[in-house]
Amino acid sequence: MSESVVEDPGSEVPVEDPTGELLVVENLTVTLPTTRGPVDVVKDVSFTVGRNETVGIVGESGSGKSMTSLAVMGLLPRGAVTRGSVRLGGLELLGRTDREMRRIRGAQASMVFQDPLSSLNPYYTVGLQIEEMYRAHRGASRKEARKIAVEALARVGIPEPERRAGHYPHQFSGGQRQRVMIAMALVCSPALLIADEPTTALDVTVQAQILRLLAELQRRTRTGTVFITHDLAVISSVATRVLVMCRGEQVEYGTAEQIFSAPQHAYTRKLLDSIPRVTDDLPADDLPTDEVIA
Ligand SMILES: Nc1ncnc2c1ncn2[C@@H]1O[C@H](COP(=O)(O)OP(=O)(O)O)[C@@H](O)[C@H]1O
Ligand SMILES: [Mg+2]
Repeated sequence: MSESVVEDPGSEVPVEDPTGELLVVENLTVTLPTTRGPVDVVKDVSFTVGRNETVGIVGESGSGKSMTSLAVMGLLPRGAVTRGSVRLGGLELLGRTDREMRRIRGAQASMVFQDPLSSLNPYYTVGLQIEEMYRAHRGASRKEARKIAVEALARVGIPEPERRAGHYPHQFSGGQRQRVMIAMALVCSPALLIADEPTTALDVTVQAQILRLLAELQRRTRTGTVFITHDLAVISSVATRVLVMCRGEQVEYGTAEQIFSAPQHAYTRKLLDSIPRVTDDLPADDLPTDEVIA
């Protein structure tokens, strides 16, 4: 498969960021138009993600976590204005056209959302949707893409992947659907994966399984991962670095160890205090009871 370095959509030459990091976000500010005039929903946020690293972004609902990730992916609402810099593999992403961003999304940077149903088409089988994603970026034959889609489903722990590839999104439970989304997000081996509250809608047991899966895939594929959550406990087991956001601002950024053992801000301490811990003793897999249709 292709080397996981972003290629300039207009050039054949892969670029490396001088810092050696995969994703470099510098002084990102996102301004959205509202009925009360422009509002800065992300203010001067900076962080980096290395290959083979999981960075957590935490903060209460409305703190700007999603707007930060949508800015990276070029998916902000119409009328949004960005300032600062977002470099992926050395390439500046801010200011790119929709067409350029479409080529980057899926292939070089992928996103998994809280609600997989909003990103899956209910009228097509999941196998076909993964195939299409692959073909759109890699131009493989249908047969080859089918094989890759089935392999992708197997990799995320879907049993009987060949048969399940022929099923529709509603035939999967919530946890299984999130696995399908992860399979789709990773099918083109992107360098960067952004998971925006991927486990929030799931019950605690399934949450733990999805987390474990993401951590496993991250280790195996060396994908740089941004894991967004409102729950600090969720990332305590996976993140190497943590960015804490509050009302669009970066209140704290450091290694997971620093954040968890010596939080500098009252806000971070509050987040730390309000959580039950995810233990290392993860429960057994949700299969096959999680499967809605046998
Ligand atoms: N389309 C929009 N237009 C204007 N403001 C928005 C829009 N979407 C979200 N916001 C505001 O932007 C802020 C950040 O939202 P968001 O990034 O979704 O927060 P989080 O993901 O941390 O819960 C919130 O105050 C929210 O109300
Ligand atoms: Mg959000």
